[in-house]
Amino acid sequence: MTGSYPNTRLRRTRASAWSRSMYRETVMTPADLIWPLFVTEGSGIEEPIGTLPGVSRWSIDGIATKAKEAAALGIPCIALFPNTQADRRSDDGKEALNPDNLMCRAIKAVRDACGSGIGILTDVALDPYTSHGQDGLLDNTGYVVNDDTVAVLVDQSINQANAGADIIAPSDMMDGRVRAIRMALEMNDHPNVQIMAYSAKYASAFYGPFRDAVGSGGLLKGDKKSYQMDPANGDEAMSEIAFDIAEGADSIMVKPGLAYLDVIWRAKQAFSVPVFAYQVSGEYALIEAGAAAGVGDRDELLMEKLLAFKRAGCSGVLTYHAPVAARLLGG
Ligand code: PBG
Repeated sequence: MTGSYPNTRLRRTRASAWSRSMYRETVMTPADLIWPLFVTEGSGIEEPIGTLPGVSRWSIDGIATKAKEAAALGIPCIALFPNTQADRRSDDGKEALNPDNLMCRAIKAVRDACGSGIGILTDVALDPYTSHGQDGLLDNTGYVVNDDTVAVLVDQSINQANAGADIIAPSDMMDGRVRAIRMALEMNDHPNVQIMAYSAKYASAFYGPFRDAVGSGGLLKGDKKSYQMDPANGDEAMSEIAFDIAEGADSIMVKPGLAYLDVIWRAKQAFSVPVFAYQVSGEYALIEAGAAAGVGDRDELLMEKLLAFKRAGCSGVLTYHAPVAARLLGG
């Protein structure tokens, strides 16, 4: 395929805008975006999140409005995260199983507002509900136990599916949870509820602003390294993904995003399944901080990074920039 100069001049096809658009290999549309939204109690409430400039927690009425906005922009799916009231957090995170919790009420409000016009993805993990900020149950040494946690996550998933969630997204990194959730969905009359597995989720320094947003940051002692992956590992990500596909995931996720493009690429090449990236809170905040510091144009910075996910093989990206990007894409 290598030509020789001047028979081949690779700049020829770049010389004009029409030609660049004709030869463009990767195209992004609003349908490639999933918009994460933070829910808080009350009504008529917007609480800006200091470490996520431009992102707020909204009370349920505001979430319904945002969901309509997403649909109008051509964004096919939103992801919901609750900022659970402090007095409803406990060691065992049992508020996650309450059919009337903030999450379930938000799901129903979005469904009422948008009908089936938008997908609702819900995160499965206990960290927004526990008083210790970990994603699972602790034993008396503080270790996050696997199998007992999975049992609770199954109930949490069914609670969300019963409320109307379309995509269950386990973000907890327990072993075996996808199979357990899939079996429970089948047994509870939810055969078409999807599972998007956070398969390769790394113990990352980029989650800080998210933990502020759901109020778990101040509670968390220690780290999540006994369940989230070591950023040094790529082969292990392939094992995680293989398990989740075998256990019944419809799509898999790599998280964070940009620092793990190699993992996205390998996953797509190896498994040919739908791969999604989560451009996490710290990644969003760095783009905003960079733009504010004069590094470059905010819109150009963010679109270049989002396009990279598509080029690497993603079917879509969870990003707090979703509405901004959708507008830039003409949605
Ligand atoms: C909860 C969860 C986290 C994120 C998504 N789901 C935080 C964590 O694992 O500590 C991070 C998302 C972001 O940083 O934007 N398990």
